[in-house]
Amino acid sequence: MNRVLAAAASVALLSCAAQALAQEPAAVDLAKGKQIASQVCVACHAADGNSVIPANPKLAGQIPEYLLKQLRDFKSEGGKPARRQNPIMNGMVATLSDADMRSLAAYFGSQTLRPAVAQDKELAAQGQKLYRGGDAVTGVPACAGCHGPSGAGIPIEFPRLGGQFSEYVEAQLKAFKSGARANDPNEMMRTIAARMSDQQIKAVAQYVAGLR
Ligand code: HEC
Ligand code: HEC
Repeated sequence: MNRVLAAAASVALLSCAAQALAQEPAAVDLAKGKQIASQVCVACHAADGNSVIPANPKLAGQIPEYLLKQLRDFKSEGGKPARRQNPIMNGMVATLSDADMRSLAAYFGSQTLRPAVAQDKELAAQGQKLYRGGDAVTGVPACAGCHGPSGAGIPIEFPRLGGQFSEYVEAQLKAFKSGARANDPNEMMRTIAARMSDQQIKAVAQYVAGLR
């Protein structure tokens, strides 16, 4: 429990850091973002960020600061390994400048999400319980506390989950659980995912896909 409490307590600290990030000089060029999106990102995320292949997350309507953080995390700087490892995305960001990443994050965040749907209603109903109430026995906190009751996320550090592909959400939770994804501030998601069963992961991933 301690690490989760510590994680919750550090949210305040984190939002200071995030605000500092948001206050950096605006170098956002939506037209440039759209141009790169429709030349490069389009192949996997669609030009408006409404990806159609479940392995490629939907970016439309995602919190821009979260998108920017991910793009920066995919980038390896000064010979150090990137904070978020993914062979495809590590390659994609290699040639992007920080200004490009800001513009892309702002552009995709401003697009209208065409949400995914929950395929398995029964599984989604199990997931709803965990999303709203957590699991007191294993110490999984309610997802709603950080990702919002309707899954819209809470600016600026907590991403939208509502309408995301269940396959992608499941893959990320498993990656947090195994430590393969380790770019979450204060190990928040690693601590939580480590306490989740594979069944809970499947159920909550199913629920959030249909969450509006
Ligand atoms: C060849 C396919 C491909 C292309 C092209 C591509 N992506 Fe991705 N993108 C992916 C995949 C696959 C993931 C999921 C990575 C993972 O599983 O961690 C991803 C993840 C992301 C994420 C993380 C989203 C989240 O919810 O955490 C962002 C942001 C992103 N891509 C932005 C972009 C941008 C901007 C471009 C264009 C410059 C781009 N991608 C081009 C395949 C692609
Ligand atoms: C204490 C706050 C907190 C709680 C509670 C929480 N999360 Fe998160 N979650 C985060 C943060 C912060 C991130 C962003 C990590 C990063 O910056 O890369 C995140 C990211 C995620 C992602 C990755 C999203 C993407 O687009 O790649 C998923 C999936 C996720 N959380 C699912 C859940 C689920 C399911 C629950 C409930 C079982 C939950 N979270 C509870 C803080 C929380």
